[in-house]
Amino acid sequence: MATVLIMGASSGIGLATTKLAIERGHSVVAFARSADRIALQHARLKKLVGDARQIDDVRRALTGVDAVMQTLGVPANARMLTGPIDLFSTATATLLPLMKDAGIRRLISVTGFGAGESGSRIPPLQRLGFDLVFGRAYSDKGIQEKMIKQSALEWTIVRPGVLINTRKVGRYRVLVSPQDWRNGIVSRSDVADFLVKQLTDDTCLKQAPVLVR
Ligand SMILES: NC(=O)c1ccc[n+]([C@@H]2O[C@H](COP(=O)([O-])OP(=O)(O)OC[C@H]3O[C@@H](n4cnc5c(N)ncnc54)[C@H](OP(=O)(O)O)[C@@H]3O)[C@@H](O)[C@H]2O)c1
Repeated sequence: MATVLIMGASSGIGLATTKLAIERGHSVVAFARSADRIALQHARLKKLVGDARQIDDVRRALTGVDAVMQTLGVPANARMLTGPIDLFSTATATLLPLMKDAGIRRLISVTGFGAGESGSRIPPLQRLGFDLVFGRAYSDKGIQEKMIKQSALEWTIVRPGVLINTRKVGRYRVLVSPQDWRNGIVSRSDVADFLVKQLTDDTCLKQAPVLVR
């Protein structure tokens, strides 16, 4: 069983992953600026308030950790349209050297379908709308993905399609080959299932699969 640091653990995929990792016997350091408001209590859960862009906060969070997950997100508001957005690249630039210093090798990072080279699989008609709404965030996720791929870490990049909230676990596809990449819906709990499995499964090492139903 691993001790995993989940960066962005207070809501969405990060919170679902925190719950599932604990359920499956792992220990979790749940990190977010609002981590103290996570409504869970467990002997294998440590809530840690911090900012993923702050070196001292991240260094502290890495103590005693075997693996790191990035499930960071920016709120869907007007700022998403007008930017600038640099959370993903800044948090990753902060994290990578600190992981190296701490000797932690496993990194599992959520970006999204449309990030990096998966952007080439967005149909041209959808491209305009996607760029308008998500362009700033996904261009920053592209920088994040590049940094991760250039690192010497044992990384997996996870690119979910459109996120929905349902409890059902198990109905999702892991599209590893670029020719299979497509958009679709996927539940946060299914993404959490995939993320937790990566703690004990090396099949997707140095891969960037798209997850859809
Ligand atoms: N919505 C979709 O359809 C879709 C599709 C594909 C991919 N994605 C991506 O999936 C990821 C997760 O999305 P989600 O909606 O499940 O999560 P979310 O609800 O947006 O949660 C984001 C998490 O990041 C944390 N966070 C934000 N800034 C932080 C900072 N500076 N330091 C530490 N923690 C910080 C937040 O906590 P605090 O604010 O308390 O710090 C929160 O725990 C995002 O990257 C999103 O872009 C979304």
